Amino acid sequence: MTDLSYDKSLHLKELIPQSEIDEIDCWIKKYPNDRKRPPIMPALKVVQENNGNYLTTEMMQAVAEYLDVPHVAVYEVATFYSMFNLDKMGRHVLSVCTNLSCSLRGADKVVEHLQNRLNIKLGETTKDGLFSIKEVECMAACGGAPMLEVDKIYHENLTEEKIDQILSEMAAKDLPTQEDK
Ligand code: FES
Repeated sequence: MTDLSYDKSLHLKELIPQSEIDEIDCWIKKYPNDRKRPPIMPALKVVQENNGNYLTTEMMQAVAEYLDVPHVAVYEVATFYSMFNLDKMGRHVLSVCTNLSCSLRGADKVVEHLQNRLNIKLGETTKDGLFSIKEVECMAACGGAPMLEVDKIYHENLTEEKIDQILSEMAAKDLPTQEDK
């Protein structure tokens, strides 16, 4: 017999603060009651941001229970969209587009330069936890190919010099300030 008293929010409440659940509720309210799947993406975004930029299987399950959708529906969204990470990532995620326009304009050189500069391969994170490099599909900035996204900012028409500058700026942001010492 179905336990009608089961609270579907219990699992998610164990994983994220109430304020984040309130945010997910705001998204749920934007859609008709019978449309349970559209809030999956914003819910995953909220959960991921609360968890250092990646999702665990348990988190995806908790979101599915909360939204009352099959686990696989949440998993499909999390694996289809490159904005979601299923592994622990560095503080700065360098998402390099390797789709057609970027490939034709030298995305392979961008990847090679990043790998050499950071001494990691695609999909890896530097030992200090500062940078991860990730390969992504078209990010709708083909006019500025080759491009990459770092911390939600697009960098286009990349050259090796531009990439070096981006890395230096990112590293400088993480240097300890006087107040940190
Ligand atoms: S192909 Fe790279 S942004 Fe479109």
